[in-house]
Amino acid sequence: MTVLSFPEIDSTNLYLKRNREDLRDLTFAKAEFQSAGRGSHGRGWVAEKGVNLLFSILIKDPSKLSYGSFLSLVIATGVASFLENELQIQDVSIKWPNDIYVCGKKICGILIEGELSSYLTIGIGLNVNQKEFVGEYRRTPTSLSIEAGKAFDLESLSKRLFAHLEKILGDIGSKADYLVYFNSHDFLRGRRVYVLGVEGECVADGVNDDFALKCIHGSHEIIVATGEISIL
Ligand code: BTN
Repeated sequence: MTVLSFPEIDSTNLYLKRNREDLRDLTFAKAEFQSAGRGSHGRGWVAEKGVNLLFSILIKDPSKLSYGSFLSLVIATGVASFLENELQIQDVSIKWPNDIYVCGKKICGILIEGELSSYLTIGIGLNVNQKEFVGEYRRTPTSLSIEAGKAFDLESLSKRLFAHLEKILGDIGSKADYLVYFNSHDFLRGRRVYVLGVEGECVADGVNDDFALKCIHGSHEIIVATGEISIL
């Protein structure tokens, strides 16, 4: 594993994308502050300087890339299980496809970008020691320190989390195991949701074997492979 640290950068995802030719598989880039942090669905990712974990992982190895969108499930379950089992955080769930929630509030966002034929950047924003979230947030945010009632040492936390993710990415198991974990931590299941592009509301009903979201829409089931979900 190679870890590159920056006091400030536009976006760790963009850094790895720009430099991917010169960097090795499993290069981690982390920053104390991002001036142009990227979020899902073309949004930004705003995080206070020096108190959160903002990092991206470069994936170039064809055998890892061959897992395709399944990597999203591997990473989300990897981060969630780290919070739950290594940090003893209670009530961890995953909002499909890969947001991590604690006690119903968003603690971590994951943005996977790139081209499956050549590289991916897995960007992870984990709220750690931030105490206040000022401004507009689509989802109520929280942080590890709010939930655990103590401050975390960012350096040692990042070392532990990076080692955990390196191990997981180096030894990807069977999809069924990740789905079992996801199904027992599925934030959306049973909730009324809007699916962007679908008229009327649906009820989230778990995921299928391809990790697509199943939604009950009237008397039908619809399958959402990728897309934006709003909770009602
Ligand atoms: C989301 O909107 O939920 C995804 C947010 C992903 C944020 C992380 S922070 C590190 C990496 N670099 C970025 O620019 N974005 C991701």
